Amino acid sequence: MAAVALLIPWLPPNASEERDRIDFVFWFTTGICIAIFAVVAAVTVYSFMRFRARPDDDSDGAPIHGHTGLEIAWTAVPTVLVTAIAIVSAIVLARNDNSPADALQVEVVAQQFAWSFKYPQNGGVTSTELRLPLDRAVNLDLRALDVIHSFWVPQFGQKQDVVPGIVTHLVITPTKVGKFPLICTELCGLGHALMRSRAVVMEPAQFKQWAADAKKGISGSGADAGKAVFTNNGCGGCHTFTAAGTQSAVGPDLDQLPADAKKAGQPLEKFTRTSIVDPDAYVAPGYAPNIMPKTFSQLPKSQLDALVQYLVQSGKKGAK
Ligand code: CUA
Repeated sequence: MAAVALLIPWLPPNASEERDRIDFVFWFTTGICIAIFAVVAAVTVYSFMRFRARPDDDSDGAPIHGHTGLEIAWTAVPTVLVTAIAIVSAIVLARNDNSPADALQVEVVAQQFAWSFKYPQNGGVTSTELRLPLDRAVNLDLRALDVIHSFWVPQFGQKQDVVPGIVTHLVITPTKVGKFPLICTELCGLGHALMRSRAVVMEPAQFKQWAADAKKGISGSGADAGKAVFTNNGCGGCHTFTAAGTQSAVGPDLDQLPADAKKAGQPLEKFTRTSIVDPDAYVAPGYAPNIMPKTFSQLPKSQLDALVQYLVQSGKKGAK
């Protein structure tokens, strides 16, 4: 049993301080359980061997009633152990919920079926991926626009429900650079399984650079700003677009935008804009409606303009 518990890596690798503390509680409790199991199993096996009825022994066992010492022991020992687990858990809970004054603030919005992240301390930059600097506590304020969702990054070790009408909180202190899946773990509708994003933990300098670039995208205009909007909003997570070097095939190939516009019988620019703010207005053959998040209709007008310009202009270059 101990070998099965200890030798198989059951849990995803750790990537946050909070997860390390949770793991401590987990192994503290598991250790106690292994010890108790070992004692109970040993006493049981010993009793089978030592006190079993011998062949031809038909006599009854001695009448026994009560054993004050034993009863005190089997009440006191579990009380001590359960109290110890409760104290350790309470300390870990309090420390995991504690958000330091200099924590990075991120406003998380969940809606069917997408995540978006806003950085008020970085000029209100938005992203559909959770970008985080290494080794700095982050305070997430989570809001839901429609139904209950739940925020979960397994490597960070905590789940937090996102509930309409209230703001919930979660503190994360990333300890590893890397990309981790960010998953909705509350059945929230047809697209629940697709409500996934990524947490991207970066070196602090890289994070600063990313935030600065993203801010340029907000304030600038033209195709360069459009590229920043494309990257910040994770368009490449679902779409192939040669100019941006993305190759995903969840949604339609954006190199084919001119051809799709022709099929829909619309001018390219109008078609591109409509497809971003109202993705189900025209659904390309072979793709299902209700997959693309409706969040992009909330992009500020300057960003939307820049994105449309980028898609129209760079697409022409890419397609030659
Ligand atoms: Cu949102 Cu499941």
